[in-house]
Amino acid sequence: MGVQTADKKAVIIFVMQGAKIAIGGKGGVGKTTVCAIWAQLFAESGLDVLAIDADPNTTLASAFGIPIKSGQQCPEPLIKMKQLIAERTGTGKEAVPNLSGYFRLNPKVSDLPEKYWLEVNTLKSPAGTLKVPVGTLKLLVLGAITQAGTGCACPEGAFLKALLRHTILQRQELVLVDLAAGVEFMGRASVQGIDAFVAVVEPGGRSIETANNIAKMAKELGIGCVATIANRITEPAQAEVIKSQLKETVLLGTLRYSRSLQEADLRRTPVFGADAEVTEHLKQAKNKLVELISGSSSKVKKQ
Ligand SMILES: Nc1ncnc2c1ncn2[C@@H]1O[C@H](COP(=O)(O)OP(=O)(O)OP(=O)(O)O)[C@@H](O)[C@H]1O
Ligand SMILES: [Mg+2]
Repeated sequence: MGVQTADKKAVIIFVMQGAKIAIGGKGGVGKTTVCAIWAQLFAESGLDVLAIDADPNTTLASAFGIPIKSGQQCPEPLIKMKQLIAERTGTGKEAVPNLSGYFRLNPKVSDLPEKYWLEVNTLKSPAGTLKVPVGTLKLLVLGAITQAGTGCACPEGAFLKALLRHTILQRQELVLVDLAAGVEFMGRASVQGIDAFVAVVEPGGRSIETANNIAKMAKELGIGCVATIANRITEPAQAEVIKSQLKETVLLGTLRYSRSLQEADLRRTPVFGADAEVTEHLKQAKNKLVELISGSSSKVKKQ
């Protein structure tokens, strides 16, 4: 490794270890794909990475190529662990949404990441080349609440909020959060304290609108660094249109439409390394984000 590369790596580790990044956007734009590839790229940069799936439709494990075991998602989303939620929130054996019942609003959760994360240590490209990261990569699958109307006023809501807040405010890893689609989650203020919010957009007015709404809300929540990635681009002109319509957010990079990425999803193989060009562009976008975070006033070193 050259001196320059070693220096660059050291800077990335110094700036990013302990930083928290949330990835959002409209449904189906590529949030999980970007999250999975970035998680592996950051781990390759020497960082200890904690990737969190905070989407009700938990698919981050599949983007890492982790197989389903006996019909069950692996790892099991924490939101499905009724017994655990009941124990931690003090609701007895069954944790059911109960507006009139009492439950702990701030349950103890600090021991849970280590207990329930899955180590994704070996990075294997489709070509079969084994890449051993210097940093570590762990996956924590939280899930999210899907029932309309339950919001935060239920044990599950309190449990998830406590876990997200704990990981955002206290963990020393570089945390990447794969969020639910849309803007609904922003109101819960569960993303407060993150260093950067990255919205993924595709060539479509509605996804740009969602990104602009997210950017506005993120700024209101005091997030200093709000950025965007344009995904599934088929014509260079599309990137220009996207760029011209984005407000209050920096475009980190554009990713072309890739049949290999689509194929990786179909075959449940890892998205990392599925398309060398997309990976390279995400590497450049990642470096741009590191620069933005290091220059951002909201960057709070937690080490
Ligand atoms: N650049 C790309 N080229 C082609 N297909 C892509 C690209 N990026 C993502 N995809 C495909 O688009 C689909 C949606 O991607 P992904 O699951 O990452 O989106 P998402 O925003 O996380 O979706 P959701 O809102 O459902 O969580 C997947 O099939 C994925 O393989
Ligand atoms: Mg997703």
